[in-house]
This record gives sequence, structure tokens and C-alpha cells, in this order.
Amino acid sequence: MKIEDLQEKFKNCTSVKISADAGDLPFIHVKNKSASAQICIQGAHVMHYQPEGEKKDILWMCCNSYFEKGKPIRGGIPVCWPWFGPNMDAENLPAHGFARLMFWTLDSIQEPDENCTILHLSLNDNDFSRKLWNYSFHLEIEIQIGKTLAVQLISKNTGDKSFLITEALHSYFNIGNIANVAVKGLESALYLNKVEGANSMIKQKGAITFNAEFDSVFSQCKQPIHIVDTFFNRTITVEKKNSNSTIVWNPWIAKSKRMPDFTPDSYLTMVCVETANVLSDAIKIEPGKEQSMGMIIHL
Ligand code: BG6
Repeated sequence: MKIEDLQEKFKNCTSVKISADAGDLPFIHVKNKSASAQICIQGAHVMHYQPEGEKKDILWMCCNSYFEKGKPIRGGIPVCWPWFGPNMDAENLPAHGFARLMFWTLDSIQEPDENCTILHLSLNDNDFSRKLWNYSFHLEIEIQIGKTLAVQLISKNTGDKSFLITEALHSYFNIGNIANVAVKGLESALYLNKVEGANSMIKQKGAITFNAEFDSVFSQCKQPIHIVDTFFNRTITVEKKNSNSTIVWNPWIAKSKRMPDFTPDSYLTMVCVETANVLSDAIKIEPGKEQSMGMIIHL
């Protein structure tokens, strides 16, 4: 749908503005009494979320991000679906799947009261997705913006053959300085260290702190995660729903320099804590069935 048609369709929503900004991509700007947020319709990508009274954004966005049709946005909450990381069957397929590269449909906006705005966006298979992954699906996302940010991803199998998905709400959090951050809640969890290319899980000991590249997949962990930031003097909590995996990622110096949409010191002010189902937590969805995964982010 064209921007003008979206603007017309949702013209009575008082907490929402729709506009074409960077790279002519369509953005949804939300401002209600409890929070403000920005969502790009490409990828159903939450880019900003800031509760009222909080000085700093909760989410980190890279100032070098691409804003181009078909290119992933760097920062915020990319939706990785229907696979996380490289595709296991074909190396040439896009990393983290195709949901973050596609235009979604903005189905509805609800404003239950002046403190809450709820967006529903969806994505169906089409010629582009079929070339990459030959299945029929309906993917929905609900983004609830209020005192907390609640995001729920619902995967439906609309075809006649079962499929296996891995998925992540690849959340980039805005932090004061990586040296002043500890990620808590994964103490004793089992993880795969991707930096070392490990193929067996080991046990985490204590809270996670950072002094080098960190890229680990924690499995069978449903518990809330806390990002304790003594620089910004705040703790961000991520509560997970139907998510058994968590990825924690900071690229550190050398990898930051290698990524064209990062800046050399981007690693200092971001950490990814990703709500996911990956590796042995992959989900099989039978024809006609659906599965949902979600998270609630709050201070
Ligand atoms: C993380 C992965 O989830 O995403 C990392 O664990 C990867 O290995 C990172 O580098 C960023 O991926 P991309 O495709 O957005 O550059």
C-alpha cells in the first residue's frame, strides 16, 4: 500500500504518524502518554522505543545503517525468520532469513487508551519468499507500545507440508559503555560459543561481562534477562514468552571495523540480547498450525 493510502487509512489514530523518511522507506512514528517509538514497515522493524520520562532510548540504532529497499536495517529489533544466522542448506541465502528484507502489511492500529498503542503487521509468502524458501506461511507481529514494549511474533503454516523454523527478535540495546554492562539471568545456562566456532555446549559461569568479541547462543533458557548498565544507571529487563534460546552478541573492535554499516566504535554503546528459538530449539509447524514467540522489554 502507498504511503498516502496508509496515511488516509489511519488518519484517525491520534498517537500515530506515518511518513516516508530515510531512503523513502515508510515509517510509523508513535507517541502516546507513556512512550514514543518508531517502526519501519520494511521488516516490521522497531527502531526506537523510549518510555516517557526516560532520557535515553532503550534500543540502539547505528548511525551508519542502510535505509534501502531490500537491505537490513542495523539496530533496533530486526526480525530474523524463518531462519536465524546462515541458512543451513544453502550458503547463498540471506543471513537471518528474509522477513527483515521485505515490506510487511500494516493491518491495524489499536489505541485502547492514551497510554497504549498496538500495531499489527503481517507478511505472506510471495514470489520473492518462495524462491528462497518454498513454503506457504502467514507471519504476524504485534507491537505494543506503552510503559513496556511488548513484541509478539506469530508464525502460521498456511500450506500443506510441515516446516521447521528458527527465529529471533534480534534486539540491539542502547548502553552507556560496554565496559559498564553485565548481562544477568543466564548464569549456569548452556551455550555455544560462535566466536570459537565451538560445536558443543558449555556452562556459563556467573554474569556475562565483555572484554572481547562475544557471540554465544544460550539454549533451554526461558528466564528473564537483565542488562545491568552502571553507566546509564539503569537495568533493562527482557521477559521472554515461548522462547527457549537467547543470543548475546557484541562484535567488539575488529568485527565492527569489518561491517560497512557499523562505525569503528559502534561496539561500545550496543549489546544484543536476542529472544529466540534456534539450534535444537527450532520449531516444527504442521500445516494449519501456528506458533508464537514474544518478549516484553521494560526498565
Ligand atoms: C547475531 C549473530 O545474532 O547477529 C552474529 O550471532 C551476527 O553472528 C550478528 O554477526 C549480525 O548479523 P547481521 O546479519 O545482521 O550482520
